[in-house]
Amino acid sequence: MNFSIYRATQNLVDCPGDNSWLGKQEKAVLDNLRFTKRRSDWRLGRWTAKQVIKGFLISEPEDISFSQIEILADPDGAPKVYLKNKPAPFTVSISHSHGRAFCVLAPSNKPIGCDIEFIEPRDENFIRDYFTTEEMAWVKSCKQTLKPLISNLIWSAKESTLKVIKQGLRMDTRSVHIFRCETGNTQNWQPLEIELNKSKKYFGWWKTMEGFILAIATEEENLRP
Ligand SMILES: CC(C)(COP(=O)(O)OP(=O)(O)OC[C@H]1O[C@@H](n2cnc3c(N)ncnc32)[C@H](O)[C@@H]1OP(=O)(O)O)[C@@H](O)C(=O)NCCC(=O)NCCS
Repeated sequence: MNFSIYRATQNLVDCPGDNSWLGKQEKAVLDNLRFTKRRSDWRLGRWTAKQVIKGFLISEPEDISFSQIEILADPDGAPKVYLKNKPAPFTVSISHSHGRAFCVLAPSNKPIGCDIEFIEPRDENFIRDYFTTEEMAWVKSCKQTLKPLISNLIWSAKESTLKVIKQGLRMDTRSVHIFRCETGNTQNWQPLEIELNKSKKYFGWWKTMEGFILAIATEEENLRP
């Protein structure tokens, strides 16, 4: 049986200017964020996550307002959802890039991670520092025009996987290996094969959208967009 990954992307212009849709605890977090870009990314991530959560809860008999959905951070930084102050029975992951946010939701608290990246050239030093030898060879073998797509795809899939295990960049990005895949039809979700520490398999999905890469990683083969 396959389970759906709920998902949404939103732009800065979609996000309301006021904060009435934030919960009390979220407003307190926002009050402590000093930098304009961080505040703006944080708000857009919450707004996008609430769109996905509302979509997931649509068939629930009990109505829940935007401000009764709160997305707070666990001590490791991973997002944790509360519905009317109680932990939600599902998991979300949030990412932002260049004024756009991407959020995914997995039912039944299955671990999930996502990432959005603007497709732009990546520095050779960046690739050398963060990619495995095989990933470097994959980028090197591509046509010049494909290099930004492939290098951002690899990076995005790595970040998604490191969010599944809630480590983020505390962990060496070379411990996550992204296997070479087809890059023909990039506008539909494509599967990705991922390995952590040369042993554990993860399941990934990716696509392009308006100049961005969207990537998702999960532990479950039957969880798909
Ligand atoms: C997770 C991480 C790779 C995100 O990278 P990024 O390129 O800055 O940002 P993205 O926009 O793709 O993702 C940011 C979101 O990742 C999520 N996130 C942060 N830490 C996370 C973790 N440990 N596990 C899963 N998700 C996490 C958050 O939802 C965050 O958005 P928010 O803070 O607005 O809610 C990076 O934040 C990281 O490595 N964090 C852990 C190490 C660290 O320095 N933590 C400091 C705070 S405890």
